[in-house]
Amino acid sequence: HVYAVIMAGGIGKKLWPLSRKKMPKQFVDLLDDGTMIAKTVRRISGLVPEENIFIITSEMGRTLLSASLGSFRQDHIIVEPASRNTAPCIALATAHIKKRDVDAVTIVLPSDHLVLDQQAFIKVVEAGIEIASEKKGLVTIGIKPDRPETAYGYIQADAELPLPSVLSDSSDFMLFKVKAFAEKPDAATAVEFLESKDFYWNSGVFIWHIDAISREFERSMPELYKDLLAIYDSLGTESEQKVIEDVYSWIHPLSIDYGIMEKAETVFVLTGEFGWTDLGCWDEVLKVAGDRSVSAGDVPDNRLVQIDCDNNFIKNSSGKVVCTIGMHDIIIVVTDDALLVCSKGKSCHVGDAVDTLRREG
Ligand code: GDD
Ligand code: MG
Repeated sequence: HVYAVIMAGGIGKKLWPLSRKKMPKQFVDLLDDGTMIAKTVRRISGLVPEENIFIITSEMGRTLLSASLGSFRQDHIIVEPASRNTAPCIALATAHIKKRDVDAVTIVLPSDHLVLDQQAFIKVVEAGIEIASEKKGLVTIGIKPDRPETAYGYIQADAELPLPSVLSDSSDFMLFKVKAFAEKPDAATAVEFLESKDFYWNSGVFIWHIDAISREFERSMPELYKDLLAIYDSLGTESEQKVIEDVYSWIHPLSIDYGIMEKAETVFVLTGEFGWTDLGCWDEVLKVAGDRSVSAGDVPDNRLVQIDCDNNFIKNSSGKVVCTIGMHDIIIVVTDDALLVCSKGKSCHVGDAVDTLRREG
């Protein structure tokens, strides 16, 4: 009864110029070891059989998927007619899964993350499945924060609970009832959360029984719940496409975090270390990739020459030769049609540059 839904319809504008509208972050090979979507599928395949893994994305995403994951079953790609953020996306996926299995426990995963310790991740998800099946609540996976990040959701822990059997021999994990969920706080609130020590970052991975999430949609987003039911009834019939298109034509974009998680009643958080990073900006990418201060000789095709340089991160995805002299602590990303030059520690502003570019056409 265990299913996985991978959400792959987002944009990831903070990794411009490699992540683009036409080639979002999850389809990019950021660390030269495969696309994030391929790694996400691989990660969850250790736990969920292939016939129970679904990807939900746009029409364009479906095309990009075949380049990234040619062997992925086409009938397991759920295509959204438009991007309406994660609440509608999860409602549509829920209708599809419920149609297959009314007793399903679903793991919802973002496709824009990195997990360094695969085994620890699988263990925590396994435990999440146990809790979701037993307690019929929403299960989140929390990460200990190390900075007052404003781009994440925060989960406040309440009473600590005994760990499920799969984790009980491990002191690295904890399970709590959730007191509150706060999506993307402002900077001052994020500092308060960090200092209070009982908040965790929301990793964006959710685990729940299909009935538990349906109940929460009904309570907190009753309009969307009606749509979910209409879609559910239409699946497999002639009107399926039309019903889904109708719903998406008027539905408001809202994330699951604002729409459901902030209001949900029975939520649990499992916390643990498994080398999670959301690779939200270039500074995070280089933390994982390690600083690359390469000299010309290190690069086989000689497209990169650095003289009197150190501590730079250079990603050259173009056919151009890149030469830097006397540069320190900078990030350079080169593609065929764009160039980013950014001081280390400042890459959180890349999204603003993209907004400016879009405004100015
Ligand atoms: N199919 C589909 N349709 N997928 C979507 C859509 C959509 O309309 N919008 C976003 N996604 C996918 C993205 O590709 C990503 O894999 C995932 O859903 C999460 O969306 P993001 O847009 O990346 O969310 P976020 O990073 O701002 O915030 C979420 O993740 C944080 C951790 O990285 C929240 O859940 C936060 O609470 C959390 O801390
Ligand atoms: Mg994200």
